Amino acid sequence: MTVLPQSHRPLIDSFGRRISYLRISVTDRCDFRCVYCMAEDMTFLPKKDVLSFEEVEAIAGAFIARGTTKIRLTGGEPLVRRDIMALVRSLGQKIGSGLDELTVTTNGSQLAKHAAGLYEAGVRRINVSLDTLDAERFRQITRRGWIEDVLDGISAAQAAGIAIKINMVAMRGVNDDEIEPMLAWAHGKSMGLTLIEGMPLGEVGIDRVDTYLPLRELHERLARRYTFTKLDKRTGGPARYVHVAETGGTLGFITPMSHNFCESCNRVRLTATGQLYLCLGQDDQVNLRDAWREGGAAALDAALDHAMIIKPKGHDFVLDRTHEAPAVARHMSVTGG
Ligand code: 5AD
Ligand code: SF4
Repeated sequence: MTVLPQSHRPLIDSFGRRISYLRISVTDRCDFRCVYCMAEDMTFLPKKDVLSFEEVEAIAGAFIARGTTKIRLTGGEPLVRRDIMALVRSLGQKIGSGLDELTVTTNGSQLAKHAAGLYEAGVRRINVSLDTLDAERFRQITRRGWIEDVLDGISAAQAAGIAIKINMVAMRGVNDDEIEPMLAWAHGKSMGLTLIEGMPLGEVGIDRVDTYLPLRELHERLARRYTFTKLDKRTGGPARYVHVAETGGTLGFITPMSHNFCESCNRVRLTATGQLYLCLGQDDQVNLRDAWREGGAAALDAALDHAMIIKPKGHDFVLDRTHEAPAVARHMSVTGG
């Protein structure tokens, strides 16, 4: 039997799940303050604590050596980090040598100027967060964004040849009247649309219980009007997809609250300061920044082994009146979406 050196052993957790997908939050900062994501007066991590690009590359390299095939850059808003394209280009060079895919989740505000560069670096698919098509409502939800910037960014990315999936957080009383128009718009432009249930992550600006909209209910509403065919597409994540006959597009449902998806989880999340969170909804983590700074590649590998042992079975989000505090104190912008 050949024994693989530690640094090439695949990452398999104690529940037998193969970890092949790394999400990297390159900054917790954002130029928006979406009401379901952040508080108006967010305090961000001190810049000195944030990993350098060299450190991110070293950590990403260790993951790729151990079988990570997909990396997604997230935030906060990844494209607001200074010189971010340098990191995108260097990670892009790993595509074909271990890495299959490099993707980005963005709010679109800076997308117009980066779209061509993203494509050149090897990015072929991105997720753009957009919860409404109404300019005024967009302003209310993001508290400070301009919808034109996002729409321009989407056009630029499409012109560059990048496929787009729109992520829409569905909120009762906020944008639930826009689901069908968004579906028609996104599919009309050959983009996928994925609906997301609000998750109790961090203190924010809205009452999550009031705005919580179970996607099961939405699914029923939409299925009365559209013909769905279930798609097999499994991403190892919480999304379930259907093909919509009337529009010819793909519709996703991310239902962390009403449907638990953890048994097929294939992912872990690196924060901008080098904590590796092993579940979006739990606090279990290992500090890869300290491991790398103090012990280099060997310590990093040992930390990854430890991470596989402590990765929890799943989240236990609950959202009701008896739970005053969010399930986890940190915001999505810290852990990465
Ligand atoms: N619940 C659900 N989705 C959220 N997002 C940010 N915070 C939350 C939350 N608490 C979404 C963003 C983006 C994706 C990365 O996560 O809108 O589409
Ligand atoms: Fe920024 Fe995305 Fe959070 Fe909105 S949801 S504040 S765009 S990180």
